[in-house]
Amino acid sequence: MATVAQPVPRPAVKQTQCFIDGQWVDAASGKTFATIHPATEEVIAEVAEGDAEDIDRAVKAARRAFDSGPWRTMDARDRGKLVHRLADLIEEEIDYLAALETLDNGKPISDSRGADLPLVVDCLRYYAGWCDKIQGDTIPIRGDYFCYTLREPVGVVGQIIPWNFPALMAAWKWGPALAAGCTIVMKPAEQTPLTCLRMAQLAAEVGFPPGVINVVPGYGPTAGAALVRHPGVDKIAFTGEGQTAKTIQREAVETFKRVTFELGGKSPNIVLADADLDAAVDGAHFALYFNQGQCCVAGSRLYLADAIHDEFVDRLAAKNAERRLGDPFDPATEQGPQVDAAQFDKVMRYVGYGKEEGAECVTGGGRFGEKGYFVEPTLFTGVRDDMRIAREEIFGPVMSVLKFSDVDEVAARANDTPYGLAAAVWTRDVSKAHRLAAQLRAGTVWVNCYDNFDAAAPFGGYKQSGVGREKGAAGLDAYLETKTVTVGLG
Ligand code: NAI
Ligand code: MG
Repeated sequence: MATVAQPVPRPAVKQTQCFIDGQWVDAASGKTFATIHPATEEVIAEVAEGDAEDIDRAVKAARRAFDSGPWRTMDARDRGKLVHRLADLIEEEIDYLAALETLDNGKPISDSRGADLPLVVDCLRYYAGWCDKIQGDTIPIRGDYFCYTLREPVGVVGQIIPWNFPALMAAWKWGPALAAGCTIVMKPAEQTPLTCLRMAQLAAEVGFPPGVINVVPGYGPTAGAALVRHPGVDKIAFTGEGQTAKTIQREAVETFKRVTFELGGKSPNIVLADADLDAAVDGAHFALYFNQGQCCVAGSRLYLADAIHDEFVDRLAAKNAERRLGDPFDPATEQGPQVDAAQFDKVMRYVGYGKEEGAECVTGGGRFGEKGYFVEPTLFTGVRDDMRIAREEIFGPVMSVLKFSDVDEVAARANDTPYGLAAAVWTRDVSKAHRLAAQLRAGTVWVNCYDNFDAAAPFGGYKQSGVGREKGAAGLDAYLETKTVTVGLG
């Protein structure tokens, strides 16, 4: 008899306070906010609601740890060892952290255990390896001088992250900052603070000096804005909505903080008539519906060549019909709820726009179940480039299918967007693949694959999808200053 996997038990919540200067503390105001399980709408825990005062304490701790603590003067190889140990400890309790992520975010346990948390471990290990490999150049300047550069940490960094990949976004930001020798004040998303807080506890257990990693949970306009304004912060790294980034950019200019932004997208996924259709159908489905459609890179504009359009749509619709929605703790579940009521309402509004503007809703379009923020996998065909569902980020399981007949035409249409985060091409023709990869104005182009996220490969947006790069060596650069030292030898 086949064994049926049992639902994973719900984990206990261990950390709910602010983590400042190596201590767990309540918010100075004593306030808390509720975090919920989006599949049932139940309150999981009350979490400290940090605001300007807690941010100030955390920034001062990070400042001390940077300016006079042991972190910056520690041997680079010992810093690397600490980051490795953090990755090891996360791996030791990967089942617990994956379950905690599923509890807070609602994503299926098969995703949090199979993708998010393993990628966290991998990202930290990748950057642990960088710690002792950061070096400058010697430069042959004119005259009797010896000139060289040093790569130094940018200082105290404020990191503000979203709720769609909570632990992974923390790792993408901690990894390069720690490798560079920076100290950190992180504000996790108010929807999903729990895994980040647990990771801070693990960092304390492996021996990071107090003040190197601080975490202040709270809301954007209070805690987040205070971090952006604080004169003790040298750099802000932000992932989230473009509108929020514009506010941050304006505020940050007052102190000329360095900023990196990883923002939204409306990524074109282009299938040519000669593509391997089995792979392309699976890839297109995954590109959009993975993580409930809550991906900055979601392949939300599916451009299908005329010749394959009808068959492709039929196959996508069949996959949607089979998609398993339900309890995210059930290992067989493929799709969980949207993260909260606001996101659920936004997605349903866009389903309405799609119908009003005359697109055909082939699957879904409604709520799934009576409890939780579930949205049926939704597929619109007959979408025109000027419809809102083809232009604006929905951040939910809503796919827009568009038709094309000519490869040059589709490149121009794919690029006709303020965004430029990702794009994909499915074809067996290697010339067309490379030509399109060159034509597409996006920070990432996938060919015959989607959502490949290796820690070594740079990631970021063209146009309004971002500023700067994360991951890889480019991600490290964002946390470094270059100092030029010139020595007169005369
Ligand atoms: P958001 O940009 O408001 O939130 C992201 C983070 O920024 C959170 O930690 C939040 O507390 C913080 N924040 C909000 N306002 C702030 C401020 N004034 N100063 C400093 N920090 C602030 O995004 P939200 O409201 O959660 O989602 C809205 C839409 O943004 C989504 O529907 C989606 O389209 C997009 N989004 C894109 C993401 C991406 O990965 N690129 C991730 C999350 C959302
Ligand atoms: Mg917001």
